Amino acid sequence: MKILTVIGARPQFIKAAAVSNKLRENHQEILVHTGQHYDSNMSDIFFEELGIPKPDYNLEIGSGNHGYQTGKMLIALEEICLKEKPDMILVYGDTNSTLAGALVGSKLLIPIAHIEAGLRSFNKNMPEEQNRILTDHISKYLFVPSKTAVDNLNKEGITNGVHNTGDVMFDAINLFKEKAELKSNILSVLNLESKNYILSTIHRAENTNDINRLSNIIKALNNSNENIILPLHPRTKKFIKDYNITISNKIKIIEPVGYLDMIKLMNHAKKIVTDSGGIQKEAYFLEIPCITMRDETEWVETINNGWNILVGSDVEKIKNAIHNFTPTTKPQMVFGDGNAAEIISSIISQ
Ligand code: UD1
Ligand code: UDP
Repeated sequence: MKILTVIGARPQFIKAAAVSNKLRENHQEILVHTGQHYDSNMSDIFFEELGIPKPDYNLEIGSGNHGYQTGKMLIALEEICLKEKPDMILVYGDTNSTLAGALVGSKLLIPIAHIEAGLRSFNKNMPEEQNRILTDHISKYLFVPSKTAVDNLNKEGITNGVHNTGDVMFDAINLFKEKAELKSNILSVLNLESKNYILSTIHRAENTNDINRLSNIIKALNNSNENIILPLHPRTKKFIKDYNITISNKIKIIEPVGYLDMIKLMNHAKKIVTDSGGIQKEAYFLEIPCITMRDETEWVETINNGWNILVGSDVEKIKNAIHNFTPTTKPQMVFGDGNAAEIISSIISQ
């Protein structure tokens, strides 16, 4: 089959690193990078380090308001689909690139496969929730990471084409964990001792676009009395500057890092404090306690198993969790066996 895959944002490159090469064993893949993420440390580094095939097209859409960004993607993707005539469009996750790929498939009557389908935060103010609900409802193949995702889809009346394959991010971390441990020298570069720092990331619109939430989060990190490493997403960098928020010298801000350095930083962290979707699961896979600065999460299994805690943007809750949150049980295998890419590829073949 000729499969046109649409990617564009950092987490999608990492998912494609687990899936693309597997898919290409049996199918022809046309890889389209929308250019939603474009800084070299948000894009190129992942292709170089992780052996992701070079995109056949880079739309170079870049940043902008949701309508502008998604609209430009739609126009460009439609043109490519009319030319390439794929048998299927494959999209990942919940970004604007995901929605654009799915809408083009839907309008051109090309079957859509959605990897990481079925997730819900039940907060429709999140752009991600809007993107994933819309994409799921027009997809023909819904590859879901967990039983919870199957249930979410069933409750919305989606029962056909749902396949619980496990999580492709579990595949990704298994693929690169050992290499990260061997190759990454980020701990010595940053002069860090294993288990003697907290790793943090912040980038979700609900936190960055609200001055109170972002100020509270930084205040909690500033006052936690821990060494914090903060690889800073460009969105957050911009808002910290715009809001004139002060960072204490307990927080070490670094540029976004590649996946190998990120795995190493996660694996040796005492705890992880984040609002990222992907990192909540990676913390779970690596058995690092995760403190999630959101009011809800799609990854409820990590909470139910006691390895993740929701603290919103509440200063005291964040500080308290940094000092006291300690999982007491072993994480259970709830996101598949780490062979999701293989399963997805064989379902597509069938
Ligand atoms: C997007 C996704 C989000 C995902 C995140 C992963 C949407 C609606 N959101 O959010 O679900 O969690 O990617 O990281 O699709 N910027 C740069 N350089 C870049 C990329 C972005 O400077 O290479 C800056 C720009 O100022 C831009 C801002 O970051 O306006 C936000 O980028 P955008 O892609 O719109 O959204 P993300 O916050 O990255
Ligand atoms: N990540 C990375 N470098 C960084 C920050 C994150 O490689 O500096 C990886 C992280 O390990 C995970 C993915 O990027 O695999 C998550 O992306 P992000 O948090 O941007 O998006 P989300 O998962 O919230 O959509």
